[in-house]
Amino acid sequence: MSEESRTAVVIPAAGRGVRLGPGAPKALRALNGTPMLIHAVRAMAASRAVSLVVVVAPPEGAAEVKTLLADHALPERTDFLVVPGGATRQESVKLGLDALPEGIGVVLVHDAARPLVPVDTVDGVIEAVREGAPAVVPALPLADTVKQVEPAGPDKPGAPEPVVATPERARLRAVQTPQGFDRDTLVRAHATVTDNVTDDASMVEQLGLQVVVVPGHEEAFKVTRPLDLVLAEAVLARRRANDGF
Ligand code: CTP
Ligand code: MG
Repeated sequence: MSEESRTAVVIPAAGRGVRLGPGAPKALRALNGTPMLIHAVRAMAASRAVSLVVVVAPPEGAAEVKTLLADHALPERTDFLVVPGGATRQESVKLGLDALPEGIGVVLVHDAARPLVPVDTVDGVIEAVREGAPAVVPALPLADTVKQVEPAGPDKPGAPEPVVATPERARLRAVQTPQGFDRDTLVRAHATVTDNVTDDASMVEQLGLQVVVVPGHEEAFKVTRPLDLVLAEAVLARRRANDGF
């Protein structure tokens, strides 16, 4: 493998998890007894192509995250770094990118809140970047039809919202992480784009570069609301049963 294609993953894990309700920062909440972040780190380190994982911890929680990583079994072949995060996801990712050493040519960005992504999805993203795509996102077709509306605004919660358009569902994809990038491209995107965005690939789109979609996976869903915790624990229980534990 050439130096240029060594791969690192940045895991933004600095969010509070407001939509999940009161409690510890979302990444530190347990799923079947193990912190969500540890599941996410293991999901990334499961790929033999990943040589470094940079965890972007809650701003006050870097020491706690270092202890967690030391206390859980992780593959020997992978290096780990922990840096404190920022006020937005975008800032947190930027702080993770700033910590990358030389010799890394491919960078994945993966939400700590997607703890159950299968290794085949991770490898598929890495492969597409290595084959020359500057930005790759795993995504799935939508189950629901999507409407564009004129939002009612915070002062009128629950008010009827006029529909503006109905995009053709077959042309839409729901995007997941890990999103994969040529390192220099992602660094340039973070240095150039200042709009607040919800994913990294859209910053590369704003540079005018081609972003491509590869197949995502149902189990790469994001733990966002309380019901997602129930689903995540059910997926883990099914895996455990299938593995014969
Ligand atoms: N994230 C981050 N730094 C922030 C905000 C979010 O690193 N300042 C991370 C989260 O930890 C999460 C990922 O970005 O792994 C995706 O964000 P989201 O699911 O929105 O998580 P939260 O922002 O924590 O949740 P909420 O929006 O409900 O508060
Ligand atoms: Mg958020």
